[in-house]
Formats: sequence, structure tokens, C-alpha cells
Amino acid sequence: MEGGYSQVKIFVTGGAGYIGSHVVKALGEQGHDVLVYDNLVTGNRWAVLYGSLVEADLADRKTLVEILRQFKPDAVMHFAASIVVPESVAHPVKYYFNNTACTAGLIKAMLECGVGKLIFSSTAAVYGTSGVPPIKETAPLAPINPYGTSKMMSEVILKDTALAHDDFRYVSLRYFNVAGADGQARIGQAYKEATHLITRALKTAKGEMERLDIYGTDYPTPDGTCIRDYIHVEDLAGAHALALDYLASGGASEVFNLGYGHGFSVREVVSAVRKITGIGFSVAEAGRREGDPPELVAANEKIKAVLGWKPLRDDLDHIIRTAWRWEMKLGGK
Ligand code: UFG
Repeated sequence: MEGGYSQVKIFVTGGAGYIGSHVVKALGEQGHDVLVYDNLVTGNRWAVLYGSLVEADLADRKTLVEILRQFKPDAVMHFAASIVVPESVAHPVKYYFNNTACTAGLIKAMLECGVGKLIFSSTAAVYGTSGVPPIKETAPLAPINPYGTSKMMSEVILKDTALAHDDFRYVSLRYFNVAGADGQARIGQAYKEATHLITRALKTAKGEMERLDIYGTDYPTPDGTCIRDYIHVEDLAGAHALALDYLASGGASEVFNLGYGHGFSVREVVSAVRKITGIGFSVAEAGRREGDPPELVAANEKIKAVLGWKPLRDDLDHIIRTAWRWEMKLGGK
């Protein structure tokens, strides 16, 4: 990425994970000084292409405060979280602890250490079924699963903190469906158990899974399957660098959607994966998965206008192609 930016120090929680590692790469390419704080439960050491890594847990307050005091970051980016919607339905407390309580703990540590800028990974799941697609940031927050609720509660804490403390500002980025991989296939999704649609479809094409189940074919959408706004992880990463710039130049606390503004159904994704891989893998129609809203598509005018974000990879085939190249390489990791 091009950079007219001055070097800043950024503390990145969850920087060894899928999204965090792509942001670390973008920040590293801009010459920033990055320190990754990750417990490596779902993250991987090899995914940290720039900066240094501290292996520690956010719940470990003593280490967290110690590292923040030592590193003295200009800003924090907070990716560390549990992110699987169906798991959150089965294990809500895990989500309220890892996502909400640990975010509160991180903010507390930041205030104690005099760190006043935070970029927060939020999610389209905060909207639930409330918004009429494309969903604007002003749509009511009405999550329909504990994952979305845990992130919405974190946003409430952020808002109240910024209201109470003049020296604390944040940008909350509500991600839609993040997919794809590094253009050079160095990093990408590497969860032990894949739950995301594109990854599971690719694993089925690769022969790692027998068949792909389509969860629900009776939704109120044109082909009966759920619609999602798939955004390439590198475009998403680019928005974090812009958010950092925005806060550094005095921008007020804000919330932005991060998606392309149009969606694809599960069936459309399946067709695209078959086309790109050239493999006609098996698909079965299954029942609905709990906690799935029928359609999540972003209105992205605000982030384009305020942060100057530009989608550069708005192409489902490109998203799948980069994810496929990464998936083929993943066996060697
Ligand atoms: N799906 C299938 N079969 C599968 C996997 C998924 O049919 O094997 C369907 C799901 O039911 C859903 C769609 O594909 O309708 C997308 O599911 P994903 O699991 O890929 O993603 P989600 O939309 O559930 O959630 C993702 C992130 C969340 C984020 C949300 C925002 O995991 O963190 O996108 O839109 F909040």
C-alpha cells in the first residue's frame, strides 16, 4: 500500500488471526511499528508478517497492562474475539466473556495507560433482522444471536467511555462477510474447524468435506437461500489504515459499515466456487441454521464519504480465487 503516513505504534489484539493478520500486513507495508497481542488459540504465529508477537491472553490483566505501558502505542486495534455465530448460540457466556468483558478490560487498561485511540472490529450481526437492506449505520441494533449481542454491548461500552473521557476516541467498523486471502497466498483463513461458507465450499471442492450443506432454502429471498455481502479481506484491511489516519487527525468517534453494498445468495456462492475451482462438488439442501438473518447487505456511503474508503476488489470471483489459492497451500502449514 502507498503511504504518505508518518510511522505510528499500533497495538493489535488478535493480530495472528485471519482478519488481524491482514491488517498487520497492511500496517507493516505502510512502515508502522506493530505489536501483536494474541493468545494463539485461533491465531497462528506464521500469520504475523510484520512487527512482533506477544503470546498472551486479554483476560491476563497484569500482562496486558505491562505490555501497554512498555510499548506505549499511539492506537489500539482490537480484533481478538470469538466469531462463530452458531457457537455463540450454544455457548453464549463464552461470547459475553471473550468479546464483551475482554473489550471492557482492554478499554480499562487503555485508560490506565493513557492510550486514547481504538479501532474496534464490530459486525453486521449487530443489526439482526432490523434493517432494510442495504443497511445503514442508523438502523436499529437488534442482534438475533449472542455473537451480535456481545459486539453490540461492546459498542455501548465504547460509546459511554468516549462520552465520559475526552481523551478517548474510537472507530467501530461493522464488518459484513469477510472472505478471500492475501494476493500472494501467504496468509488466509486457517481455522481448525471451518464454519464460513466460502471456506467450507472450497474444502468440499478440495475433498476435505464430503458435501456442502445449504442451511435453509425457504428464506424470503429470490432463490430461498441467505444473502450476504462478501468483502475481500484486503479491502477490509485498508479501511483500518484509513480509520487510524482519521483518528490521528482528530476525527470524532464514529461507527461505519464495511461491505460492498450488494450481496450474493448461498446458491450463487456455490455456483461461483464450482466455476472457479472447476470441481462439481456435492451439495445438499439442509434445514436453517439457528441465528441466521435472511439478508445482510451494507450501505457503505458513510465510510466512503468520511474515511475516503474505496472498494478495490469488489469481485466475488477474485475473492474466491484468492481463497482457493490459499486453501490449496494451507495443507503445508
Ligand atoms: N452457510 C451454508 N452452509 C455452510 C456454511 C454457511 O449454507 O456450510 C450459509 C449460512 O447459513 C449463511 C451464509 O452461508 O446463510 C453465510 O454464513 P457464514 O457462516 O459464512 O457467515 P455468517 O453470515 O454466519 O457470519 C459472518 C461472520 C460473522 C459476521 C457476519 C456478518 O462469521 O462474524 O458474517 O454478516 F457477523
